[in-house]
Amino acid sequence: MNNIAIFASGSGSNAENIIGHFSATENAKVTLILSNNRNAFVLKRAERLNIKSIVFDRNDFYRSEKILDVLQQEKITFIVLAGFLWLVPAGIIGKYAGKIINIHPALLPLYGGRGMYGDAVHKAVIENREKESGITIHLVNGEYDSGDIIFQARCPVEPHDDYASLADKIHTLEYMHFPRVIEDMVSRLP
Ligand code: GAR
Repeated sequence: MNNIAIFASGSGSNAENIIGHFSATENAKVTLILSNNRNAFVLKRAERLNIKSIVFDRNDFYRSEKILDVLQQEKITFIVLAGFLWLVPAGIIGKYAGKIINIHPALLPLYGGRGMYGDAVHKAVIENREKESGITIHLVNGEYDSGDIIFQARCPVEPHDDYASLADKIHTLEYMHFPRVIEDMVSRLP
């Protein structure tokens, strides 16, 4: 059995969708939600769905021992970043090499990097009058949005789109593909 931990900073609609997906599978479950934001709605979702959650601060995260202890205690084998804002420190990446993935709401390497999060990404895409956008699922390394790309899916950006309608399209792609990509990676863990 693989135990998946999800790091999320905000609403957590992807987290909820992933939890739902794995509640119906045999080989893996989401067993832990971690957030840097005690007001994040993802924590309410975790409570409702009966998934253990913890909140941590910057110190805990960048010193990492506490977080690594929790991950070990909970026997976490795979980590998913779903709307998580902070750069993951080397200590955590080292312990979970090749086992941490992130979803980004654009076609990386476009519209990635520090500060490129959620609606800021969609606003930039609209401002630049891009004809398409999409999602990127990638391995997490020590830099923002630059790990090896595992999967991308595209959607058109139409003249009537604003950042909110584009965000809806992107979320639809995320809900459709992210759980399946996670399941595929988890099934290939040694
Ligand atoms: C998602 O669209 C995700 O791709 C994005 O934040 C949103 C979180 O939504 N992540 C980033 O921008 C990371 N740079 P959710 O909290 O409803 O899942």
